[in-house]
Amino acid sequence: MSRRTDQLHLGAFLANSGHHVAAWRHPEAQADASQDFEHFKRIAQLAERGKLDALFIADVVALWGHHLDALSRTARAEHFEPLTLLSALAAVTERIGLIATATTTYNEPYHIARKFASLDHISKGRAGWNLVTSVVADEAWNFGRDQHVDHPDRYRRAEEFHDVVKGLWDSWDDDAFLRDKASGRYFDPGKLHVLDHQGEHFSVRGPLNVARPPQGHPVLVQAGASADGRRLAARVAEVIFVAPQDVESGQAFYRELKEQAAGFGRGADEIKILPGITPFVGRTREEARERFEELQALVDPLVGLRLLADTLGEDIDLSGHDLDGPLPDTPPGQRGSRRDQTIALARRENLSIRQLYLRLAGANPAIGTAEDIADLFEHWFQSYACDGFNVFFPVFPGTLESFVEQVVPELQRRGLFRREYSGRTLREHLGLKRPANRFSQEQTGP
Ligand SMILES: Cc1cc2nc3c(=O)[nH]c(=O)nc-3n(C[C@H](O)[C@H](O)[C@H](O)COP(=O)(O)O)c2cc1C
Repeated sequence: MSRRTDQLHLGAFLANSGHHVAAWRHPEAQADASQDFEHFKRIAQLAERGKLDALFIADVVALWGHHLDALSRTARAEHFEPLTLLSALAAVTERIGLIATATTTYNEPYHIARKFASLDHISKGRAGWNLVTSVVADEAWNFGRDQHVDHPDRYRRAEEFHDVVKGLWDSWDDDAFLRDKASGRYFDPGKLHVLDHQGEHFSVRGPLNVARPPQGHPVLVQAGASADGRRLAARVAEVIFVAPQDVESGQAFYRELKEQAAGFGRGADEIKILPGITPFVGRTREEARERFEELQALVDPLVGLRLLADTLGEDIDLSGHDLDGPLPDTPPGQRGSRRDQTIALARRENLSIRQLYLRLAGANPAIGTAEDIADLFEHWFQSYACDGFNVFFPVFPGTLESFVEQVVPELQRRGLFRREYSGRTLREHLGLKRPANRFSQEQTGP
């Protein structure tokens, strides 16, 4: 394959005191970061100094688990609502993209269309929507249901939800608002479009009461790993988050997804695939390794065992077992491939229970000098295994600082990353086209 001449795209996960499960206990971390807007402001401005494409906020509309003994040893039980936080951050940043997660399972499309259109206006074209179908089943209890919506239903609803949101964003032509004091006309009624959607899950008349977003549509992000999730991604996603194990599986996913997208009439460059990665950067490899080990040593065994239970399933009780002994025999899983992969890893590498949960806590670490990290990014990128990375910074602000000060300049030196933002919108950073209004298209014909 030919050598790529485009550049990497980099997103930064914005998680309270850091992405690592023990981040809040690190001596450098601000333990109450989750409640401190100044903390998020510093992080956002630092990421923007590094010219990163976007900030990304994950979300769950419930507590992130109900095992209080473990949860109470993490900083995951509280976090700001993403659109509210990103709206505030829009006011203290200029260029960086702002991607919020919102579920289609426990929301209404009119609300979502309106909120993201508003964020896009407030930020002058920097909004992105990470469309999820809800991983945490407990969310159901907060929305009048006693159990989670089934997986296939979640995706059917998501498809229709997405189509309604996009339709609502096209409620107005780009030039519908005249605001002409002299003539007294505020908008041109001929440039207003009523969606009139009637479907299996939604009946939405429209139009939206917010002007068409500056980007036309905020950038659509998706991260589902199942067959249904991939299908939706291939049809609608412009950025896809993935968690592949190695460069070969990354290449396979990249190829398959872009082929699948071609089946929906979409070009390969209309979708940016960004695997998650957790960099630990040091001036030397030893220093990087020490930083990693320092954090891993802070993982409370109860939290580690919960990570294991979440991955392997509740039917495996590890409580009476020696943490430094092997994983006991486990029945074949019903939880799908992640369970099997994790068990296979433990057997293959002869890992103890503690070593296994530390692997899960480490979350795909890349440990080394700035050159090592840049080598790895370059290898993935040039192998067509990704279009960039979504970076999990283990502890704020230090690991983001060392990334911005050491890794970004190395990537720039290699021509792999921008030195300055050339555009103003998130679409422009990602090299994505601005979509035409579906109603104007209908009027003017192809
Ligand atoms: C990198 C990444 C980030 C995700 N973030 C969230 C999130 O913030 N909230 C959520 O409910 N699901 C999140 N998900 C889950 C998916 O978007 C999806 O809803 C879930 O994996 C179930 O779909 P699937 O069965 O197709 O994988 C994330 C997944 C990945 C890979």
